[in-house]
Amino acid sequence: MVSLSDVQASNAQIATSLPAGLVAVFVGATYGIGESTLKEFARNARQPRVYFVGRSQDAGNRITAECQQLNPDGKFMFIKADCSLIKVVDDVCHEIKSKEKAINLLFLSSGTALFHTETSESVIYFRHTRVSW
Ligand SMILES: NC(=O)c1ccc[n+]([C@@H]2O[C@H](COP(=O)([O-])OP(=O)(O)OC[C@H]3O[C@@H](n4cnc5c(N)ncnc54)[C@H](OP(=O)(O)O)[C@@H]3O)[C@@H](O)[C@H]2O)c1
Repeated sequence: MVSLSDVQASNAQIATSLPAGLVAVFVGATYGIGESTLKEFARNARQPRVYFVGRSQDAGNRITAECQQLNPDGKFMFIKADCSLIKVVDDVCHEIKSKEKAINLLFLSSGTALFHTETSESVIYFRHTRVSW
């Protein structure tokens, strides 16, 4: 496993080793791993444009303000969307595509739709579902 100090040293190089104006998309960054990673990116990147997606408008507003404080030269745009629906994912993609020519970083941490069963022994197992197109 990569050590925390290696991660911090790598993050510290973002400002000098990567160009300004990176475009990043975070799906699932209103809490948890996504929020922490988004904030580290905001802290270190030069003039980034960041789109982050989640369902909670309150969390989106809070994190937009916090990231703007961390990096006043960055742009942080919350997109309120439930990405469990493919149509909504398409809408989010079209919105970002209409504003950007390319995405430099895509960070997905919203999880996946899993179906599980809990038995009387509290054993949880996952069933794979078949998806048809
Ligand atoms: N934490 C760990 O130790 C750990 C370890 C291994 C793997 N993981 C996996 O890593 C992923 C992230 O973990 P986490 O602890 O950061 O989870 P978390 O705190 O629950 O965060 C999940 C994020 O995804 C967003 N989200 C969930 N469903 C969404 C949907 N349908 N559409 C849009 N956004 C959605 C949530 O925001 P909204 O509620 O605003 O939508 C939230 O920002 C999960 O898949 C988890 O299973 C976590």
